[in-house]
Amino acid sequence: MENRVIIFDTTLRDGEQSPGASMTTAEKLQLAHALDELGVDVMEAGFPISSPDDFQAVRRIARDVRRPVIAALARTRPGDIDRAAEAIEDAEYPRIHTFIATSKLHLERKLKISEEECIEQAGRAVERARRYADDVEFSAEDATRTQLPFLCRVARVAVEAGATTINIPDTVGYTHPTEVAKIFSTLLSEVPELGGVVLSAHCHNDLGLAVANSLAAVEAGARQIECTVNGIGERAGNAALEEVVMTLRLRRDLFDLTTGIHTNRIHPTSRLLSQITGIHPQPNKAIVGRNAFAHEAGIHQDGMLKERSTYEIMDPAMVGVPGSQLVLGKHSGRHALKARFGELGFDLDGEGMERAYRLFKLLADQKKDILDEDLISIVHHGAMKDVPRTFALEKMTGKFGGEWSYATVILRKAGEGEIRADGKGDGPIAAALAAVNEIVGWDIELEDFAIRAATPGRDAVGEVTLRARVAGKTLTGRGASTDVVDAAVRAYLDALNKAAHADSLEEAAHAAATLRGV
Ligand code: KIV
Ligand code: ZN
Repeated sequence: MENRVIIFDTTLRDGEQSPGASMTTAEKLQLAHALDELGVDVMEAGFPISSPDDFQAVRRIARDVRRPVIAALARTRPGDIDRAAEAIEDAEYPRIHTFIATSKLHLERKLKISEEECIEQAGRAVERARRYADDVEFSAEDATRTQLPFLCRVARVAVEAGATTINIPDTVGYTHPTEVAKIFSTLLSEVPELGGVVLSAHCHNDLGLAVANSLAAVEAGARQIECTVNGIGERAGNAALEEVVMTLRLRRDLFDLTTGIHTNRIHPTSRLLSQITGIHPQPNKAIVGRNAFAHEAGIHQDGMLKERSTYEIMDPAMVGVPGSQLVLGKHSGRHALKARFGELGFDLDGEGMERAYRLFKLLADQKKDILDEDLISIVHHGAMKDVPRTFALEKMTGKFGGEWSYATVILRKAGEGEIRADGKGDGPIAAALAAVNEIVGWDIELEDFAIRAATPGRDAVGEVTLRARVAGKTLTGRGASTDVVDAAVRAYLDALNKAAHADSLEEAAHAAATLRGV
């Protein structure tokens, strides 16, 4: 049996069905290019009959993204198939993916057709799709709640009609891995025709079992997994691409199967999807959650400092994450604190270190997150309170609205005077911050951003609080204004000014150590 698993990404179709995840054509195209770079084998670009926008998006992707197979979804209706075929006619590798429900519940209550009619529609749809494309996938919607003998019949008919992939969806995420294994092994033993096509799994996550079920399908002979980045999708979502792929990669000992995914593109693709949809994975989400490589417990941090593999099963770099994080909090110990001080340029020992540790513990009891600016304050006795204004906002103008926003920002930089720059972004705040980045020229990553109304009423003052990582240091920023873009820029500058101050304190500490001959 083939030892490569085909990764069929449906972020642009089933993923987009996630509440609140709808994307514009431009955004879908941007994501499609990212999925191409990620190395997906098949990309389901959309459901062309569902709307003119979906049709356009699939057509653009089919024309622009040439390496992977581009799939378009269609019900078994002739009009759906013709529309799907039209949308992907320019694709280098087109696939039509047609589906019909097969469970008694769906046939009787939703479609109101008999099993015979279902079989007939499935066969006719696949034959029609084959007139347009050599690559045709057939899905039996609600397959896992379908009587197995009937599922076998439908699958056989679809293969005889010309389907090249047979997909078994767990549409409502109801199945358990043991059942999945039984369904797939029965299909393979009862329908020998399936030996000549690809058998595929498409699992939803209503019971949190989508990835486990997909892997059980693979163990039982499936060679295509349908999944989405960050696991987004209808209701509780689909099997998460990153979890499926990393399990196969890390557990070669169990599966001995490969994928074509460039795993170091996982994190950037996940971030892009979150930026586009505004849906961020929960912090403890495997592989792509903010805490996936963060360690707080003292014992774990100590272990990590001695040997990373004591508490990490993969190197974060494998999935494109810059590095593990030892998060300082009330559970952290001296080792981690000393190490972080070292990274910040402060070489603490003896009584200095003990004093810093005592203050750190006091602070950690009062504060959830201890940031680098807090540590600098500990060493420098509150030095991050009155931070000099290295950058001050002089003026900002913008052209907001439409697909892109544009901003011009003038900052006054201490000792250098006024500096002006233009920025572009997918919203006014993104455009304004892009202009600031242009002036500052540092490596800045925005980790958290929140806006709240600080006063009631129509002319409320908006308060922005944010957390930024600037050249490896975490800092907070706060800004308030009646204009939220202005508040955002002020909060951003607050964090950048702290970064500049932290740098100068670090330089001073370094110079003092050099003078002492340390
Ligand atoms: O979950 C499902 O059944 C689907 C099919 C259309 C493949 O998304
Ligand atoms: Zn689905």
